[in-house]
Amino acid sequence: MAILVTGGAGFIGSHTCVELLSTGYEVIVVDNLSNSSEEVLSRIERITGKNTRFYKGDVRDKELLRTVFSENTVEAVIHFAGFKAVGESVQLPLMYYNNNLTSTLILLEVMQEFDVKRLVFSSSATVYGIHNPVPLTEDMPLSASNPYGRSKLFIEEILRDLYISDESWSIALLRYFNPIGAHSSGLIGESPKGVPNNLMPYISQVAVGKLEKLNVFGNDYATADGTGSRDYIHIVDLALGHLKAIKWVMAHRGCDAFNLGTGKGTTVLQLRDAFVNSTGVEIPYSYASRRPGDADEVYACADKARDQLGWEAKYDIEAMCLDTWRWQKNNPDGF
Ligand code: NAD
Ligand code: UD1
Repeated sequence: MAILVTGGAGFIGSHTCVELLSTGYEVIVVDNLSNSSEEVLSRIERITGKNTRFYKGDVRDKELLRTVFSENTVEAVIHFAGFKAVGESVQLPLMYYNNNLTSTLILLEVMQEFDVKRLVFSSSATVYGIHNPVPLTEDMPLSASNPYGRSKLFIEEILRDLYISDESWSIALLRYFNPIGAHSSGLIGESPKGVPNNLMPYISQVAVGKLEKLNVFGNDYATADGTGSRDYIHIVDLALGHLKAIKWVMAHRGCDAFNLGTGKGTTVLQLRDAFVNSTGVEIPYSYASRRPGDADEVYACADKARDQLGWEAKYDIEAMCLDTWRWQKNNPDGF
């Protein structure tokens, strides 16, 4: 069975391709490499011993998508392609709306044309905004405070409308919490361009000596030690969640959202300490001011994914740190 993976060369996409191939799916990747490298595809092949069918190009290119759907029997699509940096989205909203929304609309039009109506979409915990109480459940009110978050929110709404218009669609909206870690081979992992915005890639670049120290954004949050708390989830657990979602879209009709998180919060200092303790590498840090828009504490209620998808996160924070470190020290400059 062939699955089309848009953005399959990216961080989450590459780990998902590995799990799909290892389970016996055929995998077709469309990626324009705007935030990734072609080397990822050879690494996926080294890990799995299997090839993906790669189309280098933009999901907004309708003719390219038509070619992909004509040349392959696509059963379902996992749509990862998009931009994801919150700060950049505030600076360049049109670029974000164009890429994230247009790519989705074009993809949906072509899927409809070829009568492929099973979709797994990369949403984000960011759609819960910052005013809901934790743990976050899928039925809570949604909001967004930046163009990136709004693009995810709009796409969720578009997909709900699409299902209302045609109930033969089957759509899983996966709301990811904070994916970190890397494949245990150390061959693929997160490879941000420039200085990382997110905590774990920042810590691992301090560990490898590329950055001097960690800036802890705020120490007066309402958490155990005053630093922000998040629900970190191992990237392989997240990837496996997509396999369960594929099974779900093959067996159900509907448009439904699922949190992919562990249900546990870890503060910035707890993550930093876990990294130091598991790897033995010192991470110097100092306190800096809060980053605007950050919530005190964000973690999932992961019961719905457990009950309806049969998925649960397995890896702990120590495994997330060790796997991140193995990837980072073997690939200090990424791909
Ligand atoms: P990533 O940047 O590593 O991967 C995205 C991939 O999509 C890249 O390989 C990029 O080259 C490709 N791409 C972007 N626009 C494209 C286009 N128009 N056509 C073809 N390819 C295109 O990001 P990621 O961390 O793997 O995230 C994947 C998805 O998950 C994104 O939609 C992101 O918003 C969402 N998400 C990520 C996180 C996270 O913490 N990483 C959290 C929540 C949601
Ligand atoms: C951020 C985005 C979110 C996006 C997610 C994955 C914001 C407000 N939110 O989530 O929309 O889906 O990334 O791309 O940008 N921290 C530090 N020092 C650092 C970096 C982070 O102290 O150098 C702290 C933050 O204040 C936060 C925690 O670490 O408390 C996690 O931050 P980060 O990894 O950026 O994830 P989120 O903010 O949860």
